[in-house]
Amino acid sequence: METKIVRVNASSPDPDVIAQAADILRSGGLVAFPTETVYGLGANALDGAAVQKIFAAKGRPASNPVIVHVAEIASARDLVAEWPKHAERLAERFWPGPLTLVLPKTKRVPEIVTAGAATVALRVPAHPVALALLRAAQLPIAAPSANRSTALSPTRAEHVLSGLDGLIDLVLDGGPVPGGLESTVLDLSEKQPRILRPGLVKPAELDAVLGPVMRPAHAWTVSSEPKRSPGMLERHYAPRTPLECVANSAARVRDLERQGLRIGWVAFSDDASQNRDSAAKLRLLSADPGTYAKELYAVLHELDAAGLDRIVVALPPATEEWLAVRDRLRRAATFFADGN
Ligand code: TXA
Ligand code: MG
Repeated sequence: METKIVRVNASSPDPDVIAQAADILRSGGLVAFPTETVYGLGANALDGAAVQKIFAAKGRPASNPVIVHVAEIASARDLVAEWPKHAERLAERFWPGPLTLVLPKTKRVPEIVTAGAATVALRVPAHPVALALLRAAQLPIAAPSANRSTALSPTRAEHVLSGLDGLIDLVLDGGPVPGGLESTVLDLSEKQPRILRPGLVKPAELDAVLGPVMRPAHAWTVSSEPKRSPGMLERHYAPRTPLECVANSAARVRDLERQGLRIGWVAFSDDASQNRDSAAKLRLLSADPGTYAKELYAVLHELDAAGLDRIVVALPPATEEWLAVRDRLRRAATFFADGN
């Protein structure tokens, strides 16, 4: 199949382009589009055969359910068997935005979307292109990140094409996305709200609405997590180049360079100043977690394409502000040296 790429203005998308994309979705095709977090690979969520094409294009295991995107709270309520008060409060506070709520589903949601589970994951994305597409298609859109399974998530249209060119109908190229990291997935299907995947909405922001929420089972350790959220495979979000995440990255880079390896180095400016004559391909990232998240995947995509032997990443601080970034680095890494 030939994959079409169409540029679209990120803040005021051309209605004709959106209408074209909506037609493809309504006829069972696949469209990649920008959201405020990462690019999603969309299909009509009510059409099991269309959603099956997402799994095929991504090489995604059938056991990993996908998020359903809707244009507004009312459309989310149509797909769930229960809409508890705290769901309403969270939706009012965070939608449109990077919070995904897991709730008991109705029969309208095909089994393939939820990988057979009795719950469905829902969110209203905060990106003009995604919202325009949802409104034009008048459908809920099932959309995982638009990458091959376990690979790095795409934050630009080029990243989508590098994994999925020839496998999907259309890419809406809205330029780099503003967030750069996936949504927070919060399970509301049980008594205690629980974060299944840390993301752009921070735990403390959820606490402020709900009272203390449960953190991911192993937020600070390397050990494997119970597969409540089946997408949380240990190795995931990973470049092809082996990646190490270590506390003293300057020393590690020096060691590896002595061994003759070509290194990509993702560091804070403090680390970089400790090894100024390094020949590594150095990418400095911000000490602010939000800015860091926005840049991380683009930097990893770039270094991964550079034909290096190793990517060394300076370990970010073990504070909750960095929870989502550290989670993704842990999953991207072949070696993760946790300071704890
Ligand atoms: O920011 C995002 O969430 C992006 C954009 C495109 O919206 N989407 C995304 O989707 O990251 P994906 O499929 O790459 O990750 C979805 C995560 C997976 O960890 C999956 O297992 C979990 O959500 N998930 C989906 N449905 C679920 C359900 N019913 N119960 C528990 N976890 C679920
Ligand atoms: Mg993904």
